[in-house]
Amino acid sequence: MTASDSPAPTLLTAWKAAQAVLKTGRIDSPSIDARLLLEAATGATRMDILSDPYRVVTPEQQAQLDAYVERRLRREPVSRILGRKGFWKIMLNVTPDVLSPRPDTETLIDVAVLAHAKNEAFTVADLGTGSGAILLAILAERPAATGVGTDISFEAIAVARDNAAELELDNRATFLRTEWATGFADHSFDLVVSNPPYIPTDDIAGLDPEVREHDPILALDGGPDGLQAYRDLAPEIARVLKPDGVFAVEIGWDQGPQVKALFEAQGFADVKIVKDLGDRDRVVTNGLDPRVNPIPKD
Ligand SMILES: C[S@@+](CC[C@H](N)C(=O)[O-])C[C@H]1O[C@@H](n2cnc3c(N)ncnc32)[C@H](O)[C@@H]1O
Repeated sequence: MTASDSPAPTLLTAWKAAQAVLKTGRIDSPSIDARLLLEAATGATRMDILSDPYRVVTPEQQAQLDAYVERRLRREPVSRILGRKGFWKIMLNVTPDVLSPRPDTETLIDVAVLAHAKNEAFTVADLGTGSGAILLAILAERPAATGVGTDISFEAIAVARDNAAELELDNRATFLRTEWATGFADHSFDLVVSNPPYIPTDDIAGLDPEVREHDPILALDGGPDGLQAYRDLAPEIARVLKPDGVFAVEIGWDQGPQVKALFEAQGFADVKIVKDLGDRDRVVTNGLDPRVNPIPKD
């Protein structure tokens, strides 16, 4: 049998073949990654793959899938290959200038949405906004809220603005290139959130290539002990937050006690460490813990 006699690939066989290649290349989640790449290469949805598995994959689509798989084997993350990433309930454009938003950061959204009821009007600041992920997820959940995202990177601000426009949230979100909260008046915000860089400088070389080679260093490097951004942020957050306001910052799994102490030193009461779904310390806040106060279905 010649190659031209072999049966044309289908959504199912192409998915399985891509999965096998990624598995051989020791890629962490071969099944999910192969499916996402197949969807992008063919235009099929996840439902199409399940309900119409014998749909033929054209040679052009197969070539596109092969090219994507090749890039993934070189440890480029799927979000970089496709230029987009799902986060919370929104889809975001991502470029090499922004951190690819992480599922871990959804714990911060769980905490943030507990601070205000669904239709309450309030103001929020997201310091170090990157793609705009955190601010835009909160605004998508809270239709009367307005917010500002800041970043030191001009390029990140441009990506965040594009994302706000695509999600039709640009009437409630503004973005500003500044150092953390510099330029904002005292007591400006009801809610302040941040996922700052928190990897100790010397640990960066040991990260997976997906992170080390594809996330911007500005989004990773937390200084010698990983805590520098929190030292800068704690007094700034204390300054711009309203007296009864809520703050929430993401942390590395082993940074809880130190970051909690930095915020307590600024006079915040009832500071707590919130765990993520993997039971690891993930957020420091003076707000509510979603594991103790379940999120209302609204
Ligand atoms: C870990 S990334 C988080 C991005 C986004 N908030 C997210 O969760 O996906 C940290 C962000 O902080 C920004 N950043 C770093 N230093 C900063 C500073 N001094 N002032 C403002 N933003 C800063 C980086 O450019 C980067 O976009």
